[in-house]
Amino acid sequence: DREVYVKITVQKGSLADVKTQAIILVFCEEEKTLSGPAADIDQKSGGLISDIIKRGDFEAKPSQVIAAYAMGFKPAEKIALVGLGKRSELNLEKIRRAFAKVIQELRGWRVQKAAVSLDLSLLTGKKEKIVSAAVEGAVLGLYRYIPYKTVGREELQDLQELTLVSGQKDYALVRDEVQKAKIIADAVCFARDLVSAPANEMTPSILAARAKDVAKRKNVSCIVLEKGKMKALGMNALLGVAAGSNQPPKLIVLEYRGGKKGAPIALVGKGLTFDSGGISIKPAEKMDEMKTDMAGGAAVLAVIRAAADLKLPVNLVGVVPATENLPGGNALKPGDVLRSHSGRTIEVLNTDAEGRLILADALSYVGRYKPAAIIDIATLTGACIVALGEEVAGMLGTDDPMKKDLREAADVTGELIWELPLWEHYHELIKSDIADYKNSAGRLGGAITGAAFLSKFVGDYPWVHLDIAGPAWTTKDRGYIPRGASGVPVRLLVEFLRQSSKRMQRGH
Ligand code: BES
Ligand code: MN
Ligand code: ZN
Repeated sequence: DREVYVKITVQKGSLADVKTQAIILVFCEEEKTLSGPAADIDQKSGGLISDIIKRGDFEAKPSQVIAAYAMGFKPAEKIALVGLGKRSELNLEKIRRAFAKVIQELRGWRVQKAAVSLDLSLLTGKKEKIVSAAVEGAVLGLYRYIPYKTVGREELQDLQELTLVSGQKDYALVRDEVQKAKIIADAVCFARDLVSAPANEMTPSILAARAKDVAKRKNVSCIVLEKGKMKALGMNALLGVAAGSNQPPKLIVLEYRGGKKGAPIALVGKGLTFDSGGISIKPAEKMDEMKTDMAGGAAVLAVIRAAADLKLPVNLVGVVPATENLPGGNALKPGDVLRSHSGRTIEVLNTDAEGRLILADALSYVGRYKPAAIIDIATLTGACIVALGEEVAGMLGTDDPMKKDLREAADVTGELIWELPLWEHYHELIKSDIADYKNSAGRLGGAITGAAFLSKFVGDYPWVHLDIAGPAWTTKDRGYIPRGASGVPVRLLVEFLRQSSKRMQRGH
């Protein structure tokens, strides 16, 4: 269903023999002698590459790109030289960024086909990861959200095909890894599309329809609970938030069964398709960005889609409470008290702390699946952005092994997370005078009191909360994350699931 999408192909042979429009040559800084495909092409072109480097304009700094004409060298018209920085300082994130940069440059030069040969010895023991970093960098770097652009559309010509050229020895590995990386990058773009969509075209009903699309896959099923069912189940926290809007709320439940047996891992995602704040209304400035308040829910849909496409041997249940938060005539008022699905009562001191209300009902509802663990993902608090900045998600929860695994997945994927404490005394701050809990404890420690509130509805399951208010959306271009929706933390969670499924197969 996507209009523009770079095709990644894999070809056996050597780069100098591939007929294409542009070839990409990858370099590390401070390395004087040419090697690999650069040496090969240099020799076959009568010194073209060494000549460029001798001129001193290219030092192979991280993400540095320069263009050269092939000047008579036959297989390609253009050559792009891209730098990775010093070999000793290389990591996967630098590879992703370099590939995003070079592919964006190629698009700018109106190149439609390009080829590259990867040096899989750049990082020892990480052949697969080098391939996936390059693919992710390229695909995610080319992402743009243009379904509503009608003026100058023909200018938006995209790069059509990137060929990875591989020798005989690594061909199968490259081919298999490209296929997996494409699935994951595709899922990230899917999440970005959902988050980028304007709120008038991404209502709770539309989000539910997208979840049904995901469920067309093998081993995936989707049910959507409607308002009547929510009432019967006593989901008055979710219904309370929805009361201010004319859009009917939806509780989306997606299941993926890829494992033999065993309890599922539950993924619960905040699905506010628009958060105006409600009666505690937000300032007009940047309120438009609150169309992204369903980024957690989008990530849940995307992770389940990727897990199904990768055929991961895990069982998952995804729950996404979806609603708008608007100040209508029936809207929640500050001071209202709600009886949640769990039976616990909540005093609504601030109607803009609505994410935790809808998540309260979703978290206690998912208990009926007796999950092995629960991870919730939410653009929950501005306070988390104050604490950690725009590029880092906050992590809080009750399960140390799972937090450790998520930290490792963050290291691998570059989707950064940092733990905040959830000490006993924070729980005092959310006690209400007239109900069990209050939904707002004010500004101080806001990311933590938000998580403390959620913890009351989790039940006795290992649980981690990811506050993605910062990284879900970016206002500046960041390499493979062009400004707009980032798709965070889809890659992080898929990596986490890949590792935990491996561990489960080994029997821990
Ligand atoms: N969706 C917002 C949090 C948010 C803010 C996400 C900025 C992304 C960017 C959330 O519903 C909210 O409004 N939280 C309040 C909570 C407060 C009233 C306790 C906040 O952070 O100010
Ligand atoms: Mn809010
Ligand atoms: Zn919100």
